[in-house]
Amino acid sequence: MKLYIETVGCQMNELDSELVVASLRKDGYELTNNPHDADTILFNTCSVRQHAEDKIYSALGRLKNAKREHPNKVIGVLGCMAQNHQGIIFKRAPYVDLIVGPGQLHQVPALVRDIRAEGVTRTQRMEVSLGRNDGSRDQIERSHESFDPLRDPAMRPTPYQAYVRIMIGCDKFCTYCIVPSVRGPEQSRSPSAILAESRQLAAEGCREITLLGQTVNSYRFQEGDRQWRLSDLLVALHDIEGINRIKFVTNYPKDMTNDLLAAVRDLPKVSKYLHIPLQSGSNTVLERMKRGYTVEDYREMLLRTREWIPNVAVSSDFIVGFCGETDAEFQLTMDLVRESRFKNSFIFKYSERPGTKGATLYADDVPDEVKRRRNNELLALQNQISEEDNHAFLGREVEVLVEGPSKTAEKASAADSEAPATASGPIQLTGRTHCDRIVVFDGNPRQIGQTLPVTIYDANAHTLFGEVVTRHSGVELFTLSVTKRSEPASQKEALSILK
Ligand code: 5AD
Ligand code: SF4
Repeated sequence: MKLYIETVGCQMNELDSELVVASLRKDGYELTNNPHDADTILFNTCSVRQHAEDKIYSALGRLKNAKREHPNKVIGVLGCMAQNHQGIIFKRAPYVDLIVGPGQLHQVPALVRDIRAEGVTRTQRMEVSLGRNDGSRDQIERSHESFDPLRDPAMRPTPYQAYVRIMIGCDKFCTYCIVPSVRGPEQSRSPSAILAESRQLAAEGCREITLLGQTVNSYRFQEGDRQWRLSDLLVALHDIEGINRIKFVTNYPKDMTNDLLAAVRDLPKVSKYLHIPLQSGSNTVLERMKRGYTVEDYREMLLRTREWIPNVAVSSDFIVGFCGETDAEFQLTMDLVRESRFKNSFIFKYSERPGTKGATLYADDVPDEVKRRRNNELLALQNQISEEDNHAFLGREVEVLVEGPSKTAEKASAADSEAPATASGPIQLTGRTHCDRIVVFDGNPRQIGQTLPVTIYDANAHTLFGEVVTRHSGVELFTLSVTKRSEPASQKEALSILK
């Protein structure tokens, strides 16, 4: 049987899809890239912005005829939009068979099995978790289950990288955000489960793990009389042989404690890269967003972070055009971005989410063209900063974990099926530095998964371009590009520098 799955949204969703695929594989499914070939079609959805939901409804619309022609196909909507819209999805797309919220995904294989057994006379199934006001904290928590032990390497970003969930849910209730409603209460996973899963991933060849949580640095787990924090977890994970890099996303600014900063500074495997969303540079907007900190608090946190961790790269998220945002308030965001020098920022136009405090309390009154203009203005500023900071890497050597063929190499190999990306000849590769900067360089497919020294010779806002450094007996002789061999003159030059 064939499964087609489409995933939108955050890394949490990507991980959820990996787990769903793993569980369906146990039922004999294999993946297909073509929805028309598939016996079961699943959409793992996102509700953070309206646009993400609209895209799923259009994708469902395109399946209407396919379902009429092949009524045995199972069509399912999973994830945040399933929890958010529930039965509305059946109303808008009556041919959908299955709706499963993010806290109920462990039920997917049994539900698909039951639906298939019923044939064309099937009844629709919906499994969602309790809403935030539909029971006691304990009941609501238990209705949000995650089933992390099953993994599927084919669904990972690369065979060398994997996500590991350390907590689910969120209790921060920022007024714009739907996540606390759809992903339920904040719950941390036990350190023993996290360590066991990470050891297993290392044994399977994973070199980099990214710990996931909506507010990952709020992690707390009480084990007897010991309380585990994220910093304790990092120390324990650091001992796992085979894991070379540890990252974690996303951080909540108020929980950036010194024990965590010390762990990032002192543990060599932990990336000196921190994603700490600021959202706005105006105190009045932050107040309306109920982010729980002021600009002054954030600035203190950022200074402290940079003091504790030299060369740390910090990135951020921003929402422009939040309810009532004036030009003056927006300019405060511009000022703070200019001052903060983030490595990069993800910038979003505010999208009103029914059911959030923001939608009830405030009018979505910033016109779309103003949101668009502010988005472009902030993006241009951030790009200028990113480019300037990337230029500081020119001539420097960085350590790159090689992820795979670059986008250009992938396109070339797709256009020319005679030269697949897995061939052994030279190829453009992409990878990331320890501080999460993207590096493109010429290399060889067998270098994928390795950590290599690369010297940077060019840079733009998003990418560093480099050449692999070749060393002999631990002594650097010269830099050698695999496709363009260095000129003898430059080799001599490099040798004379060594003398
Ligand atoms: N509208 C626009 N952006 C949003 N985000 C969260 N909710 C909304 C919304 N309603 C952004 C925040 C968050 C990122 C994941 O998505 O910046 O950090
Ligand atoms: Fe949403 Fe705020 Fe929780 Fe992040 S911290 S998931 S923005 S409610």
